[in-house]
Amino acid sequence: MESMIRDIALAPSGHAKIDWVKRFMPVMAAADKEYSVTKPFAGIKMVITLHLEAKTAYMATIFKHAGAEVAVTGSNPLSTQDDVAAALVEEGIHVFAWHGCTEEEYSVFLNKALDIKPDIVIDDGGDLVDMLHTTRRDLLPGLIGGSEETTTGVHRLKALERQGKLEFPMIAANDAYCKYLFDNRYGTGQSTWDGIMRTTNLVIAGKTVVIAGYGWCGKGGAMRARGLGANVIITEVDPIKAIEAVFDGFYVMPMDEAAKVGDIFLTLTGNKDILCKRHFDVMKDGAMMANSGHFDVEINIPELTEGSASNKVVRENIREFVQPDGRRLYLLAEGRLVNLAAGDGHPAEIMDLSFGVQFFSALHLMRHGKEMKKGVHLMPDEINVEIANIKLNSLGVTIDELSADQKEYLGLA
Ligand code: NAI
Repeated sequence: MESMIRDIALAPSGHAKIDWVKRFMPVMAAADKEYSVTKPFAGIKMVITLHLEAKTAYMATIFKHAGAEVAVTGSNPLSTQDDVAAALVEEGIHVFAWHGCTEEEYSVFLNKALDIKPDIVIDDGGDLVDMLHTTRRDLLPGLIGGSEETTTGVHRLKALERQGKLEFPMIAANDAYCKYLFDNRYGTGQSTWDGIMRTTNLVIAGKTVVIAGYGWCGKGGAMRARGLGANVIITEVDPIKAIEAVFDGFYVMPMDEAAKVGDIFLTLTGNKDILCKRHFDVMKDGAMMANSGHFDVEINIPELTEGSASNKVVRENIREFVQPDGRRLYLLAEGRLVNLAAGDGHPAEIMDLSFGVQFFSALHLMRHGKEMKKGVHLMPDEINVEIANIKLNSLGVTIDELSADQKEYLGLA
């Protein structure tokens, strides 16, 4: 079994982390219980490219118990936890990842994982799928399909589909109700502030927080910032989202205005250059910037670096950029997803739903992938309902059922 990890001796703390999250992931536990016996993935090879921390590791082991041969890589250089990677190797999974890998190493890792010749891939952000369409087209004939974890990856898939170049079926796991309604909103909302607070050890109450993007992640970030006592400003380019933010009770203004008054800036757009030189030039002394969007392009770090007199790390995951006029600006987690690069990512209970979506999407692909057309697909809605029912059950929450009369009244009978 081939793997490339930092240090196998770190495994015990990785196992402890996986054991902890297991207790809070009942949807995944239900899948494990059933499919470790029936082993529907027997003979199937899978490559999983995701933030390599405990919840991802737990999902990878469940695919293994269900019969698959699994190779895992990280989806971001700073989100891999080396102890978890080591524990996964001990679970009999191929792992190619270490914390702080270079771009070159990242590409080596993806290639090594792909060398197992996957039937199914799970991607996060689109780099793996990109590789399958460029340098690893040799693997296309054997591939059934895959699923994509995040908004940015789905955007890339849809662009490929529009050009008629997407070569296999991909399920947009991100676009399943059981994913974005909870993961993007409540998961990102909580874990982003966890990352910022544990990194800075500063108070949020009373600060002016500027949130760029009022999509699902931005809504979560804004909701939690308000709960922490911040004054929240939203910046948007979509007029409908902007009205939503206004009626949700937030200030809305262009970034050029917000840049002058913010204490903490958080980008959550999936777009690039949200904060750039003209904003750095007017920010207050001490302003902090963090990104929770998928790629580290939302804050223009080359412009920040070039426009600063000096920069240095002043505390773990905080880089200080001294401006020519003496103002100090702070960048958290090198502009990478702050909830994962400076924290442990989403809460386990949330990832239970997201990875439930991934697990059942993979099962769907395995059963029906060969008949599915090339292109981007939604996960079938009945799977959302199944996952939601398992989750409600685990929470001890029961709900009403439609009577036969009500179904008829609603035209559902
Ligand atoms: P979304 O599409 O729901 O929202 C993005 C919003 O940003 C949209 O409302 C859009 O109008 C706005 N926007 C685009 N350009 C803008 C600009 N120049 N200025 C202001 N607003 C702008 O996407 P979602 O699901 O909220 O995801 C956002 C990003 O977060 C993506 O990169 C996604 O992959 C990533 N993500 C990160 C997670 C994490 O753990 N940190 C979890 C889930 C998603």
